[in-house]
Amino acid sequence: MTRWDPSLYLQHAGDRGRPFVELLARVPATAPARVLDLGCGAGNLSSVIRDRWPGADVLGVGASEEMIAHAREVDPDGRYEVADVNALTPDGPYDVIVSNAMFQWLPDAFAVITRLLDAVQDGGAFAVQVPDNQDAPSHRLMREVAARPAFADHTQGVREFSATDAPAYLELFAGLGWTADVWTTEYLHVLEGDDAVWGWVSGTGARPYVQALPDGLREQFVAEYQAELRAAYPQRDWGTVFPFARTFAVATRPDR
Ligand SMILES: C[S@@+](CC[C@H](N)C(=O)[O-])C[C@H]1O[C@@H](n2cnc3c(N)ncnc32)[C@H](O)[C@@H]1O
Repeated sequence: MTRWDPSLYLQHAGDRGRPFVELLARVPATAPARVLDLGCGAGNLSSVIRDRWPGADVLGVGASEEMIAHAREVDPDGRYEVADVNALTPDGPYDVIVSNAMFQWLPDAFAVITRLLDAVQDGGAFAVQVPDNQDAPSHRLMREVAARPAFADHTQGVREFSATDAPAYLELFAGLGWTADVWTTEYLHVLEGDDAVWGWVSGTGARPYVQALPDGLREQFVAEYQAELRAAYPQRDWGTVFPFARTFAVATRPDR
C-alpha cells in the first residue's frame, strides 16, 4: 500500500480540491442524512461536504494511516476511519457516497464500485471524480522511465490502472440502470517553481514507483524522470503549465 505524506500532498490543496467542489455542486441531494467519503484524504475537504449539507452525518474512510491521522488532527469533530475500500462493506444505507481522486488507485475499480452501490439509498447518489491522465506525458513518462533496465526489476507491476475515461463511467452506471451525469474537465494548472510537475506527482502518482526503489536507484529514477518532465512541460517565466483532465460522474439510484 502506498505511503502518503499529507503535507506534501496538501501543497496543491487548492488545485486538487477544486474538482471536489465542482463534483458536489452537481449532486442533486438537498438534505442527505448520511454521507460517506471514500478515500477522504487529509480531512481538508470535509468542510466542503459540511458546507454543502450542514445537517449530514459524514464519515470519511481512507487506507492511509498518515492521511487519516492528519484528518483527525485538523478536524477533531469529524468522523474518520482507516479502511481499504477494496474490502469495505459500508454500514449503509447512505444517501450520498462521494469519492475524490481515489478510484484510480484501485486495480479493479468498477467491480468495487458496483459492489458499493448496494449501500446507496433509493434516490440516493454515488458521485466520483478520477484523474483521467494515464496517457498524459506525466504518467506515460513515469511508466517509461520506470521500465528502463536499471529500474524495471523493482518497478514492474507496482501500479495497475483501472479505466478512468468518462465514457467507461457512463457505460458502468447506465448499464446498471442508474441515471448518470458524466463529464470531463481539463484544468490548465499553472505551477510555480523549478521541477514543478515533479513537485505535483511526487505527492501522488509517482509514489508507488519511488517507494519501490532502493536507495541510490531511487535518486537516479527521480533525476531521469525530472529531466523528462522538464522537456515535456517547459518552465516559462510565469510558471509551468500542467494540463490535467479529470472524469466526473454523478449517478442516481432509481427507486426500487
Ligand atoms: C489523491 S488522494 C485523494 C484524497 C482526497 N479525496 C482529496 O481529494 O484530497 C487519494 C486517497 O485515496 C486513498 N486510497 C487509495 N487507495 C485506497 C483504498 N484502496 N482504500 C481506501 N483509500 C484509498 C489514499 O489513502 C489517499 O488518501
